[in-house]
Amino acid sequence: MRCFGPLARSLAVILCGIHLYASVVTGSVIDLSSQKWVLSNSDLNISVRGKVPSHVHLDLFEQQVIADPYYGLNDFNLRWIGWTDWNYAATIIGLQRSPTTKTFLQFNGLDTFAHVSFCGQRVAYTDNQFRQYVFDITAILAACNGPHELNILFPSVPVTAATIANQPGQEIWPPRVQILFEFSNRHFVRKEQSDFGWDWGPGFVPTGIWQKAWVVQLELLEVHVRNTLLDIYRVGQLPNLPPDQTQNWVLNASIDAVGIFPFNSIMKYKIVDAKTKQTVSFGLLSNVTNAGDVITGTTVLSGSAYKLWWPSGLGEQSLYYITIDVVTPWGQLVASVTKRTGFRTIVLDMGVVTAEELAKGIAPGNHWHFEINGHPFYAKGSNFIPPDAFWPRVTPAKIRQLLAAAVAGNQNMLRVWASGAYSPDFMYDIADELGILLWSEFEFGDALYPVAPAFLENCRLEANYQVRRVNHHPSLAIWAGGNELENLELYLVNLTAPYLYERFKGEYETLFLKTLLPAVFGNSHSITYMPSSTNNGYISINFSNPIPIVERYQNLEPGSIYGNTDYYNYRADLAFNISNYHVGRFSNEFGFHSMPSINSWRNVLPDDELYFNSSTIMLRNHHYPAGGLNTSNYYNSSLGMGEMTMAVQRYLPIPNKADPVANFSSWILATQIFQADFYKSQIQFYRAGSGLRNRQLGCLYWQLEDIWQAPTWAGIEYEGRWKVLHNVAKDMYQPVIVAPQWDVTSGLLKLYVVSDLWSEVAGSVTLTWVDWAGNVLGIPTTGGGGGGLNGTVQPSSGAQTLPFAIGALNSTLVATLDVKSLFSAPGSKTAWSNSSSVDAAARNASNALFVATLKATGTPVNTEATRTYTHTNFFTPTPLGKAALVDPGLSVRYDVFSDQFVVVARKGSVCGRG
Ligand SMILES: *[C@@H]1O[C@H](CO)[C@@H](O)[C@H](O)[C@H]1NC(C)=O
Ligand SMILES: *[C@@H]1O[C@H](CO)[C@@H](O)[C@H](O)[C@H]1NC(C)=O
Ligand SMILES: *[C@@H]1O[C@H](CO)[C@@H](O)[C@H](O)[C@H]1NC(C)=O
Ligand SMILES: *[C@@H]1O[C@H](CO)[C@@H](O)[C@H](O)[C@H]1NC(C)=O
Ligand SMILES: *[C@@H]1O[C@H](CO)[C@@H](O)[C@H](O)[C@H]1NC(C)=O
Ligand SMILES: *[C@@H]1O[C@H](CO)[C@@H](O)[C@H](O)[C@H]1NC(C)=O
Ligand SMILES: *[C@@H]1O[C@H](CO)[C@@H](O)[C@H](O)[C@H]1NC(C)=O
Repeated sequence: MRCFGPLARSLAVILCGIHLYASVVTGSVIDLSSQKWVLSNSDLNISVRGKVPSHVHLDLFEQQVIADPYYGLNDFNLRWIGWTDWNYAATIIGLQRSPTTKTFLQFNGLDTFAHVSFCGQRVAYTDNQFRQYVFDITAILAACNGPHELNILFPSVPVTAATIANQPGQEIWPPRVQILFEFSNRHFVRKEQSDFGWDWGPGFVPTGIWQKAWVVQLELLEVHVRNTLLDIYRVGQLPNLPPDQTQNWVLNASIDAVGIFPFNSIMKYKIVDAKTKQTVSFGLLSNVTNAGDVITGTTVLSGSAYKLWWPSGLGEQSLYYITIDVVTPWGQLVASVTKRTGFRTIVLDMGVVTAEELAKGIAPGNHWHFEINGHPFYAKGSNFIPPDAFWPRVTPAKIRQLLAAAVAGNQNMLRVWASGAYSPDFMYDIADELGILLWSEFEFGDALYPVAPAFLENCRLEANYQVRRVNHHPSLAIWAGGNELENLELYLVNLTAPYLYERFKGEYETLFLKTLLPAVFGNSHSITYMPSSTNNGYISINFSNPIPIVERYQNLEPGSIYGNTDYYNYRADLAFNISNYHVGRFSNEFGFHSMPSINSWRNVLPDDELYFNSSTIMLRNHHYPAGGLNTSNYYNSSLGMGEMTMAVQRYLPIPNKADPVANFSSWILATQIFQADFYKSQIQFYRAGSGLRNRQLGCLYWQLEDIWQAPTWAGIEYEGRWKVLHNVAKDMYQPVIVAPQWDVTSGLLKLYVVSDLWSEVAGSVTLTWVDWAGNVLGIPTTGGGGGGLNGTVQPSSGAQTLPFAIGALNSTLVATLDVKSLFSAPGSKTAWSNSSSVDAAARNASNALFVATLKATGTPVNTEATRTYTHTNFFTPTPLGKAALVDPGLSVRYDVFSDQFVVVARKGSVCGRG
């Protein structure tokens, strides 16, 4: 469909600019989504209706050539699609043919290898899913005598990848360094790496025109905007370094176009408050440089005229529309772009710990924390993976639901894991609105990559496009080069081929420091870059050097603390042993898998497969042995099933319901409860670290959500349902919490209060022991170690209340209880002070539950009025599986008046609403 005709060019701005924050274009544009596409495969005699944007799998599913790719074992059954070549063809309707018209094809994404031809003539061959491509087809159109047929042939990705891998002289890495799943050779292909399979998802290697595409026709002096960079930073700011917050703002705008900006073009700007619609400022950009298809200009804006943008929980998400107009010297509008943006600075501070901080008890070494608008804050969140194996069916509504769940879960940051896909603009837009910071990464991970010049240039162009596309979003928190490169990949090289370590470290730096870093720093003063998701920071940073960063790697001073951590341990017996947890400045990955609910399973399994180790469930568990895969243990999916089973058996009551589906459902819930308990133990540990030597300021668990229905690390199922984990994490991510931390080695239970407010919070914690029938046991007098307590806690027949006060972003130890000597042997009796009211049989570890309730007053960040914080937390000295649990006789009813479910326990008390 034509957007507007040649006679109405001046109306272009009005007609095509109505969709929110879209670039206004001149010239005439045909949206290729509107054309009639045919998807075909001649070898297989398949020819069906196709779509743009789409994937082959989605079109075949819609046309009923294949069944639902997510059903049963279809991830295996449909492998043939990935091994086959597919063709998309359309006869383009509406092209104009005049001798003065220039005609271009613009693809925002071709997945992945694509032979593009028009009117039977070759146009291009592409090999990068993440680049935007523009091709000039003016000459082909002029010479075209047949129908205006656009043809895009997508050769099989695994076949093409194998051809690349087998080229003479192709790079080879030491064994077990390249972590591979269903399909091999992913590191040679600039395609979503998890399309080749991953431990939480299927491998479909989909192909197709996965992003929007257009035909653009331009007359002389017309341009079409293809990408826009807005960089907003404080005067003097350099990426990676905390700026001076008192400085003015610099606005740097740079527009990429199809066509050529007229000589001497002028750039104008206008800034409108998105909420009040008031124009805050307007004027001309200065220092305009016009490189033909790129025009750039800057201005300095008042440092105080704009309301700051803050992440959720730390203030308002103030947003502004910035319009940039490019105008000829004689006043004709050439291009107009409007972007919604915000004013904030965000830096990952990796600087040296100062003397002042050492005096506060912080360990020497380097920082590793984020600062928003000059304030360090506690990053609370999780890791975001691709929400679907097929991005073209991911809707803004789906993303909004996930990001809203993150906000509801008291999260302020998501790490958008590499190696999925770069987040769509609508995801950053929603994150800007909701206040979720998106830690973003280039799509490389768990592998080493080639360094041939053509590969590097492909990566450079990809990074340049993506950095420019998303830099204006205030939710953009950082760019990382890729996933688990320094802590895992370089470690694996050193482990398997130490004599090659220097060589592969050099190659790593060639891609991640010499190629990707300049793509960030060359476009942005406002955003931090680090080469690897997990790292020990840098030894030095000096912007006078061509590559400013010298990475620290393993050059660690004993006693000093550096960097962020990534911790996994699948031995259930060690799950709650806090001495295994990593002590770092920030935790960006940790977790354990659990089952999705029976409701999710019912969507993809036949009824006769609804049991724990059914073959489809086993084959959807891709959690294989650590340290990479080889073909012999590839389908050892019983490993992951066994880990979940052993964890439930060790810690929880074993489900034994007569009805097999009900029993399966109970097992599912048990795996979710263990998962949530394990994460809770770690979140408490990392948050308490904010007041300890390591000054820990971030906790992002693995992983927010599922890509499909499978046993995974997710807290939110594919269909959006919250697992136990998301609910428990929501509780643990409240601003002020009381956290009982059990040290299995010392036998001490340390009771911390943690606050991530930016001012003092004061209150009290009430603690006591109760039995499973609900009787208060009080605080015992004897039982070893003076009743299992020290100075702060006094024996009592009831609860005891301890006062506390903590400063900004800190934690405090309010009590230490010697639980080991309190219950020195299983079944041992303890002298509770109110012995008269409690049956003697109740006084053992299996019938004791520690309850701590916090009540405090503090001031939420960036607000004036104080509020009350409350939190209740529990500790059980024996696993629930060994506890003398009393059936609470739960019943559930729906209350129509309040539109809530009411859960009632036996004694008649309401114990939960939701
Ligand atoms: C190809 O498919 C068409 C339509 O389904 C059918 O009529 C034709 O017989 C098929 N040809 C072959 C060789 O199978
Ligand atoms: C324009 O360039 C000059 C010379 O490099 C510089 O002094 C000035 O600060 C620049 N203006 C802006 C708004 O960046
Ligand atoms: C945390 O609070 C303790 C106790 O008041 C104090 O000694 C310590 O310096 C604080 N830590 C930081 C980083 O402010
Ligand atoms: C490589 O491994 C050896 C042996 O474990 C270790 O001593 C050395 O520090 C490692 N080197 C690097 C750079 O990680
Ligand atoms: C503006 O952005 C361009 C990249 O498009 C960069 O080369 C230039 O240095 C930037 N200028 C300023 C003043 O930030
Ligand atoms: C930064 O690098 C430049 C150029 O290499 C050098 O002259 C300067 O001394 C360095 N600065 C510091 C603080 O090391
Ligand atoms: C409580 O006991 C712990 C562990 O022995 C100790 O570190 C702490 O200082 C004690 N606190 C008080 C107030 O005695």
